Parts: sequence; C-alpha cells; structure tokens
Amino acid sequence: MQTNTQPMLFPELFQERDIPKPVNIASIPQRSPFRYPGGKTWFVPTFRNWIKNLHTKPKVLVEPFAGGGIISLTALFEKLVDRAVMVEIDADVAAVWMTVVNGNADWLAKRIIEFDLTKESVIREISKTDVDEKERAFQTILKNRTFHGGILAEGVGFTKYGENGKGIRSRWYPKTLARRFTDLNMVAERIDFRHEDGLEVIQQFSEQKDIVFFIDPPYTAGGKKAGKRLYRHNSLDHDRLFSLCRSIKGNFLMTYDNSEEVKAMARTHGFQMRLVPMNNTHHATMEELVIGKELSWMDQYPAVHEPQAAHKTLIKTHPVQK
Ligand SMILES: C[S@@+](CC[C@H](N)C(=O)[O-])C[C@H]1O[C@@H](n2cnc3c(N)ncnc32)[C@H](O)[C@@H]1O
Repeated sequence: MQTNTQPMLFPELFQERDIPKPVNIASIPQRSPFRYPGGKTWFVPTFRNWIKNLHTKPKVLVEPFAGGGIISLTALFEKLVDRAVMVEIDADVAAVWMTVVNGNADWLAKRIIEFDLTKESVIREISKTDVDEKERAFQTILKNRTFHGGILAEGVGFTKYGENGKGIRSRWYPKTLARRFTDLNMVAERIDFRHEDGLEVIQQFSEQKDIVFFIDPPYTAGGKKAGKRLYRHNSLDHDRLFSLCRSIKGNFLMTYDNSEEVKAMARTHGFQMRLVPMNNTHHATMEELVIGKELSWMDQYPAVHEPQAAHKTLIKTHPVQK
C-alpha cells in the first residue's frame, strides 16, 4: 500500500485513510438508462479526477466499448469534454444509443411510461421481429430491466425473485427510466454514436493529440468473470487492443480485471498500472486494474497501489483468451 502525506484531493472516493473503502455508488448521479453488467459507475470519481489532472482539457472523449455509457454521459453532463464518441458493437445496445442520438428519446420515455409490465407482456414485446430501431431500443430496455443481472447475452432468463421478492418488476422504475431518457436530450447532440468495432475506432482517432480514450473492454476469460458470459460480444483480441493503445498520441485510461495475463501485457507495452478497490455485485470488495501512460496522480488515494510483479510461471500457465 502507498503511504503519503498529501491531503486527499478526492475525499468522496475513500472515506477513511488507509482503509480500502470503495466508492458509495449512491452518491454518483446515475445518468445511464441501463443497468449494465460490468458498469463503471463506481469509477466516475476516478475518471473525473483523471480529466482534472490532465495538462489541457480534452475536447473529445472516445469510449470504444461504451455499453451503458456512464463515463461518456458523466463527461458530457459535467462538461469535462465537449463531445463524446461512443462505440458499441452489440446491435441491441446500439439501437438504444441510436434512438437517443436520432432524437427519439422522448418517444422511448413515453413508451416506457405507458407499458404495463407483466411477464406475458414482456414476452410478447421481445418476441416481435422485424421491428424498427426505436422498437428494438424498447425491447433492449425491457430485457435489460427484466433479465437476470441485466445480461443481454443469449441464454439468460428472467430474474427469478428480484428485489424484495418483486420478481420481474423489481428493476422496472418507469418514471425514473423515462426521466433518464428525456434528460439525455440535453447531451444527445454532443454524442457521436457508432455501431462499429471499438478497435477500428481507436485506430481512427489514435493520431490526434487532443483526444482522450476511456477503454473498458470485455474482460479476459481467465479473470474474475471466468465461465460467465456477460455480453453477446465477449471475445476480443486483447493483444491488438494493447498495441493500439501504444499508438495513441493523446491519452487513455483502461480498466481491466486483475489477472496475470493482463498485467503481463501492460508490462510488455510499458504502461503503468494501479489497483483500485470496488464492490462487486455480491458486495465483496475486490480490486480492479487501471492501466495508463502516467498514473502517479492516483497515488493520492491511500487505498490505491501498484500490483506486485508476477511469478513467471503464472503468466505461462494462463494464456490470454481471444
Ligand atoms: C465492460 S463492458 C462496458 C461497460 C461500460 N463501461 C459501462 O459502464 O456500462 C464492454 C462492452 O464492450 C462491448 N464490446 C465487445 N466487443 C466490442 C468491440 N469489438 N467493439 C465495440 N464494443 C465491443 C460489449 O458489448 C460490452 O457492452
């Protein structure tokens, strides 16, 4: 653990010195309409601090694996950047963001308010085929709110008991959700959404010095989520991602699972690393890996520390899954 005597610049990140307490998520404005597996709401204070510690305020944020998009939305609402390029390869998730940027957030909000949610009505809606973009967006929100863990990957069923035994309706807050969509109108014009491969978009923007990237890829299979399929698009060429990060002329911050193969790749490419505490869905405190070009600004947090060097055989026995 790092020890330092500097005043804490971000007291809400950790409430007590030397005790690794993760962020209280309830204190962070929830702007995303998704409940996203692997969502980065807990990372918002660290992200804000990263932007504030940069020498010049970046104009554009690129988020190549946007998912629920909480980091881009926070950056836009809090005017940390002028514009955000959000990229997502999943067609269902993309339909939601396309609906927002195409000016149909109010339509979606109305559809949510007027929907009478029962198991039967959800099944009827999500079985419809040949739907347009905004109806597909509505289907995605229904699935995200009623499927186990908000997981949209194939083979996931409805949530069984839900919060307080309320079953399928336990995560359905129509007024709150509708409000999140209408609020998105305030930033929609500053979003450049792309239904593309995030790796290609990193390459496209890598030469521009005034651009920053927040990179939150689907994790390596050897990590903490081993055996669980959280996303329809789960596999990624992690080696290529690291090589692309090296070509970035601006700045980037990447989050990953704390696994030996990821740390080995980060070391190979000469990046810095820090471990940050977070609560997982089972309320257990664990550490997530943050990777970047220069991370000494994170050392003001007593609970943040550098990972220890791994034993070579560990790296050999856990090859990176592609
Ligand atoms: C860890 S999640 C991102 C979560 C997001 N940071 C949030 O807070 O909600 C990774 C996302 O990357 C998407 N994805 C996977 N492969 C991709 C690719 N090649 N290009 C773009 N998105 C991809 C997945 O569908 C998933 O939504």
